[in-house]
Amino acid sequence: MLSSNEIRQKFLDFFEKRGHKILPSASLVPENDPSVLFNTAGMQPLVPYLMGQKHPMGTRLANIQKCVRTGDLDDIGDNRHFSFFEMMGNWSLGDYFKEDAIKWSYEFLTNPSEGLGLDPKRLYVTCFEGDENAGKDIESANIWQNVGIPENRIYFLPAEDNWWSPGDNGPCGPCSEMFYDMSGAIGDLSKEEFIEAVRKEDVIEIWNDVFMEYEKKDEKVIGKLAQKNVDTGAGLERITAVMQGKKTAYDTDLFEYLFNEMDTTYGIFSDIKSKRIVADHIRTAVFMINDGIIPSNKDKGYVLRRLIRRAISHARRSATNFSQLFYLVDFITNHYKNFYPEFEKNRRYIHEIFKDEELSFSLTLERGLKEFEKGTDAFMLFTSYGFPYELTEELLKEKGKGKITTQNITGKSRIMSKEDFNAKMAEHQKLSQTASAGMFKGGLANHNEETVKLHTAHHLLLAALQQVLGKSVKQRGSNITEERLRIDFTFDRKMTDEEKQKVEDIVNEKIKAGLSVIRKEMPLTEAEKLGAEMEFGAKYPEIVSVYFIGDDEAFITLDKGEGQGGGIFSIEFCGGPHINNTNELGTFKIQKEEAVSAGVRRIKAILM
Ligand code: ALA
Repeated sequence: MLSSNEIRQKFLDFFEKRGHKILPSASLVPENDPSVLFNTAGMQPLVPYLMGQKHPMGTRLANIQKCVRTGDLDDIGDNRHFSFFEMMGNWSLGDYFKEDAIKWSYEFLTNPSEGLGLDPKRLYVTCFEGDENAGKDIESANIWQNVGIPENRIYFLPAEDNWWSPGDNGPCGPCSEMFYDMSGAIGDLSKEEFIEAVRKEDVIEIWNDVFMEYEKKDEKVIGKLAQKNVDTGAGLERITAVMQGKKTAYDTDLFEYLFNEMDTTYGIFSDIKSKRIVADHIRTAVFMINDGIIPSNKDKGYVLRRLIRRAISHARRSATNFSQLFYLVDFITNHYKNFYPEFEKNRRYIHEIFKDEELSFSLTLERGLKEFEKGTDAFMLFTSYGFPYELTEELLKEKGKGKITTQNITGKSRIMSKEDFNAKMAEHQKLSQTASAGMFKGGLANHNEETVKLHTAHHLLLAALQQVLGKSVKQRGSNITEERLRIDFTFDRKMTDEEKQKVEDIVNEKIKAGLSVIRKEMPLTEAEKLGAEMEFGAKYPEIVSVYFIGDDEAFITLDKGEGQGGGIFSIEFCGGPHINNTNELGTFKIQKEEAVSAGVRRIKAILM
């Protein structure tokens, strides 16, 4: 039986042998793309290249991408939903198209030595049935038949099922999905029977080949891209379940070690779904912290906080032997460290951040419980004390106190159902989302001039911080809106006024000096030798994009291979974009310097 580690390796080896360069997973946090909070598919970090930009590693790529989807947390814990998952994918950037993509998908799934050796008689396939944007995908269906899928196991479905795009804007196209019979006893199915079998999870989707040759703008398909791309995605969780003969990845080696630990430490969970939620959420939290996210009340930090709090409250409610959860963190980092070696380095840090958050929530919980004694306004308990609805509900049950209530503006109390609560939450979230969406006008790959300037100022700021506070200062997170930049960095105390002034002066001096901002592609090893700043937790491909900021003389020395970048002010691993010369920036001003968590500070700054 193949382990999940072996499946990952087989996938990469298979595509490497077929001319693909293997990329490391990009961070969960999209680089310079404020339109999404997290990468939700393997193709997301590749959008500029699917749109036509040249990729430094070539036209055939493959990787295992870390993804987070937290759209509907209520689904987590059933057989198929996970807030974190790994997506195996192979890409053609204007290189091969349907023929090779389909042939290789089939081969990887069914070949017993190089691939997974799945039974071809248990496979079903769907293709796009056609609409006003594109015709019926007979071509793909024919290729499937040629590789060995019988005609009666190929179903044509509408755009709703077989047209894939990452959102309202960007590359998209018809897709062809592969499904597997979980029991092995199903055999031929009519289209209606097939749809029903999918609904009942008797056959499950295991891979999606997207033929990305179209572009979407504001929800509408507007035409063809300059090149024909292939984007595929096979969820490691699903494939592992299939390979290990389980109905769900929760019963595979991806979770087994964790459930064993939980059984030993927390005793019996009264509810299997709660147990799965605890495991799922902690795993996601560990990966998020590893990629530099810190619990907070906004955006990504809020999602992380919510996951940790939900995990705690589910464990609290369901486990016979509840105690702190941070203890599990080390088991997760340990489990994944072979494939994600950065866990070795970040292990302690992740443990501490998780523990801090858990302990501070425990304190809030204490205070919230006191408040709870006075009243049971579930929404107030959520907004002021972070109580998930279920927690308030459970507390009420424990105390035999009756129904959950809420107060209207006149102070009158009424019963609040879970639906009321969710509706109010949705409204609350919509308001905060609109507030943050307003900061980022424009979508994927649309970079506003102000944010581009602030991005360059961000590089100058990091270099200035290191000059004033020492080289040990490392970036831990960043966020740029049209109005301001924000950087989180490691430093263990408050900065003095003099230090802040000094940093500000250095940045302004570099702006006035009119330094050039230059992008270079180079081997990873060379960039490392130059001491380029890396993104926390990130792994980089063999060829990387690096931004340099310096004066002309420094660039001449650099090009000659002398001085190892000594005269260059800033060198960072970065995909851009940036302005060309620092003299376009105006005046730089630090607005605020504050603590984020133990050992991490935050600066907000503007350009005037
Ligand atoms: N991008 C495609 C998906 O996520 C492969 O399904």
